Amino acid sequence: MNELIQKLVEAYGPSGFEDGMREVIQAEIEAYADEIWVDALGNLIARKKGDGDGLKVMVAAHMDEIGVMITHITEKGFLRFTNIGGVFPHNLMGARVQFADGTVGVVYSEKLDGRDKVHGLDKHYIDVGATSRDDCPIEVGAAAGFKRSFLAQGSQLVAKSMDDRIGCVVGIEALKRLKKTPHDVYFVFSVQEEVGTRGAQTAANALNADVGIALDVTGTGDTPEGRTMAVGLGDGPAIKVKDAGMISHAGLVRVMRARAEEAGIPYQLEVLEGGSTDARAMQIASAGCAAGCISIPCRYVHSQSEIVDAADVENSVKLLVEILGRPIEL
Ligand code: CO
Ligand code: ZN
Repeated sequence: MNELIQKLVEAYGPSGFEDGMREVIQAEIEAYADEIWVDALGNLIARKKGDGDGLKVMVAAHMDEIGVMITHITEKGFLRFTNIGGVFPHNLMGARVQFADGTVGVVYSEKLDGRDKVHGLDKHYIDVGATSRDDCPIEVGAAAGFKRSFLAQGSQLVAKSMDDRIGCVVGIEALKRLKKTPHDVYFVFSVQEEVGTRGAQTAANALNADVGIALDVTGTGDTPEGRTMAVGLGDGPAIKVKDAGMISHAGLVRVMRARAEEAGIPYQLEVLEGGSTDARAMQIASAGCAAGCISIPCRYVHSQSEIVDAADVENSVKLLVEILGRPIEL
């Protein structure tokens, strides 16, 4: 699976600019879907038809990644920018970002008042090697994502954009392995999650599913003086019970736990105090649906070195296949 993970995490695709990412995923899944299309916002939707009288199930993983957008170019050719999604100043000094045309820029900030202080985004800039506004290869409105190569070290997988390319990998792998299902399943690779679950919202309105399952990362509570949270890296997929945007459907949580227990898949229960996922958008779309989320535990979310555990990824795929392959009794 590492080859596929590398391909996805290293690809360019900030929110609103997911085209290239979508092509990579489409090529990967085409042979396994009964029907495949792209909607008006750019969501990639792959349908796997059921052979029973199961439910209509929407599975969502977001293709987009956090990034920056150029607001202004100085006379000397330095780029000022705003954030696309949750980009934090303390993760930025010395970062490299990549634009759609392949141009790479280095992020830095104006002189700091003290070494333990960080400026806000407005005092940061990107250096692409231009010497003036006129010879700058990048325009106002151009978007960039971080540039970092994938690293597999022991069971730890490290990359930018594990959020949520690793969820996309789980969806792709599950679609490939799902031989039979009683359900009408729609795998949605959604756009613009990082700016407010916009892609999942329109897709969910259109599909009007009975059940919605998001695949996304969640934080962990296992680092020095980290957040208080009962999720650990390598302790299994996390079945979401609650986050800041939703409370999972209790019946769906029960089904997820039962499938994990029957199949001997380790799992943990997730209560995340900040942030949400595409599951929120699915839950409250049109007349609503029973929504939940399989979360892949991830350290350092929204940094350029997000870490997941290989066994958690594999077990997330297994859990999703178990859920989709059998009747869902809510
Ligand atoms: Co995110
Ligand atoms: Zn995410």
